[in-house]
Amino acid sequence: MKRLKEESKAILKKILVHDEDLGGSFVSVTGSPGSSKTSVMLTMMRYLTKYQPKDKIFMSETYRAPLQCFNECNGEGLPIKLWVQEGSGVIFRDRNKRLKKITLPHETFKDFKDLYYRAPRGVVNVVFFGDREQWRDFMGYLTGVGEWVDVFVEEFQEICPLLSSLSKKLKPFIDTAKDFRKCRMNVVFNTQSIVEIAWPLVRKIQINIYLPGAQPLKWSRIQQKAIDNLEKSPSKGNESYIEHLGNFGKTRWEKIWKPNKEKSYEAFAER
Ligand SMILES: Nc1ncnc2c1ncn2[C@@H]1O[C@H](COP(=O)(O)OP(=O)(O)O)[C@@H](O)[C@H]1O
Ligand SMILES: [Mg+2]
Repeated sequence: MKRLKEESKAILKKILVHDEDLGGSFVSVTGSPGSSKTSVMLTMMRYLTKYQPKDKIFMSETYRAPLQCFNECNGEGLPIKLWVQEGSGVIFRDRNKRLKKITLPHETFKDFKDLYYRAPRGVVNVVFFGDREQWRDFMGYLTGVGEWVDVFVEEFQEICPLLSSLSKKLKPFIDTAKDFRKCRMNVVFNTQSIVEIAWPLVRKIQINIYLPGAQPLKWSRIQQKAIDNLEKSPSKGNESYIEHLGNFGKTRWEKIWKPNKEKSYEAFAER
């Protein structure tokens, strides 16, 4: 048990502590709905805002669902900044007021470059392009900025769905994903099930975080039975397996994140 804990720490360190020799990493977080996939990403983002204050951190949220960047852990939220692309038709709505249109403090940006240079360090920049698929090109842009960047993507199947495997449009992003490591980019995404993701990308994932309900990849050393035995605890935190190149460990995510009931907002793309 102790060895598994040490190993998981070592793997997490690859994501959260920068090492020029190791470079960036491409990470998946999978598990059933409510298994705390988003909470795991929020925990990582908060760590990075505190301990990698020079990083530019970007987050991609889904539309027509509660914005998770307002979630809190022990009454404390993430430092965030919202960005909306000019002309994208993205608005915000209050889910507590029957989806009444509201204004949330945000800034607008013209293009990738404008966004990148104005995005502050040490906070989570939550970005809305009208079309979520633009994240593929934005990540391509980020491989060329020449400094450490962290990207967190909710519901990755919306950006790289299985069907896109058959499309030429995905090709540039497959090459982008190859470059994450050497371009000092950490890309962490979640999805309920990896089978919903375009398969050429699944092969490029370096680190897998399996929460309760996850299915291990075919070539994983972790067995389904082991994942089924992970502890689920709303008070102590859920357990997970973390695997990197055949090494794996087990870790408990002790930080419990809850939706902020007062701030139940969603983003909506009007076009
Ligand atoms: N670290 C944790 N361990 C166990 N349960 C958690 C943890 N963090 C949050 N939760 C509980 O689980 C619920 C779902 O978490 P969430 O991260 O939204 O899951 P998912 O993204 O997998 O659907 C939260 O509303 C909270 O009640
Ligand atoms: Mg989620």
